[in-house]
Amino acid sequence: MKKNDLLTIKTEKMINQGICLGRYEGKVVLIDGCLPDEVVRVKVKKVKKDYIEAIAVDILNESKNRITPRCKYFGLCGGCKLQNLDYREQLKIKKSFVEDAFMRISKIYDVEINDVIASDDEYFYRNKMEYSFAKRWLFEGINYNDKEKEFALGLHIPKQFEKVMHIEECFLQSQFSNEVRNFVANFLFERNVSIHSLKNRDGLLKALLIREARNTSEKLVGLVTTNYDEALITELGNVLSAKYPEITTFVNLISRPDLSSTLPEKIITIFGKGYIIEKLGEYQFEIYPNTFFQTNTKQAEKLFSVLENYLQKEITDKSNTLLIDLYSGVGVIGIILSKYFEKVLGFEEIKESILAAKRNASINNVHNIFFIQQNLLKGLSLEKEYLEKDITIVVDPPRAGMNNELIKSIIQLRPKNLIYISCNPVTQARDLIELKEYYKIEFIQPVDMFPQTFHIENIAILKLFS
Ligand SMILES: C[S@@+](CC[C@H](N)C(=O)[O-])C[C@H]1O[C@@H](n2cnc3c(N)ncnc32)[C@H](O)[C@@H]1O
Repeated sequence: MKKNDLLTIKTEKMINQGICLGRYEGKVVLIDGCLPDEVVRVKVKKVKKDYIEAIAVDILNESKNRITPRCKYFGLCGGCKLQNLDYREQLKIKKSFVEDAFMRISKIYDVEINDVIASDDEYFYRNKMEYSFAKRWLFEGINYNDKEKEFALGLHIPKQFEKVMHIEECFLQSQFSNEVRNFVANFLFERNVSIHSLKNRDGLLKALLIREARNTSEKLVGLVTTNYDEALITELGNVLSAKYPEITTFVNLISRPDLSSTLPEKIITIFGKGYIIEKLGEYQFEIYPNTFFQTNTKQAEKLFSVLENYLQKEITDKSNTLLIDLYSGVGVIGIILSKYFEKVLGFEEIKESILAAKRNASINNVHNIFFIQQNLLKGLSLEKEYLEKDITIVVDPPRAGMNNELIKSIIQLRPKNLIYISCNPVTQARDLIELKEYYKIEFIQPVDMFPQTFHIENIAILKLFS
């Protein structure tokens, strides 16, 4: 067996990342580009000792759950890998990702995993998107002129980072986001504005950010550039506010030309407040261009009510109770849960998020919450006065999960309740290997924040063994 060989395989289940499992002469084959329960012709990409990596080139016998994807970029754009699968099947497969991670990695077999909480919106649910400027990915059969080849505003193609697929529509974004992206792209294209090149460390345009507060309708547009071009930004600000009066703020984020990321060194507000306000239940939150906020607002509200329902039953007397909100971002979880506890401490690494979290506590008149800027990879250190309290921890780390230092500090603190929210069940299951020695898993609740993609958010609620 060698690279580029063609094989015919019956697919079995889908595993993480939207890859299907199959077998060829007893050896596991990991196949990209197909669905479970299909007969596919695959091309071998890599032959490893224990498995083969392959890509589907022809679907010979389709799954009964296969549907026609609505997006013309499907297959090339890495965003919506499951758009060709019926939504109810997407939910079942995502539940199986969680089951698989908990059984295979944490060896947890005896805990019921609840059905995934489905998203009300299967499309148009994202409240934020960052589109990149770069050289254009060229589609076969389309003739591009030289200027078009050099200009794209859209999404990166997996494994082709220097090129971007110029997009005109994305079904995960609102109509507004699609219109503004196209308008800004045309405006800059017509004026021949240069695109940033990491290699040459020159060019102006890096990215376009569009954020919407779905419950208040406030809207933020941000242009990420390597420099402040006053004339250009002023003109763009003027035309944007005239054409889209619903944009409540427009900002220019200045990001270093020697970095591939869009991390801003400086943010210049061109018009509006420089942030948007979102409402979740009785609370409101200031969201800044570069601070984290859950991307599917309606599903985030459902996720927070799972936590509230649990705590309402669990914390019957709040005297001497302490909630520790780890990876607290702009303070959303800590503030929403603050009414169930005597005191709340939020820990977060990013200074801007800490400042926004403090403002969010203040505008909501929440006075029992305090935010501490700390890199949690160094573990958690708590002042003595808190150690005697009745502690609950909620932890919501990035995809990489926690590290040993932090897990060790949690175990030392012995919180009675431990709520672990994760956007990556694989790292969550890994982190539970040690925690399960001290904690009983009460229940596991996946929430679908990202329909059409293979991503799944998962809540694990744990209770200290008595
Ligand atoms: C998934 S977000 C959760 C935010 C918040 N819980 C919410 O729901 O809005 C993860 C947060 O962790 C922060 N973060 C990432 N690495 C960190 C670290 N090593 N120490 C502390 N905070 C970190 C990020 O800045 C981000 O705000």
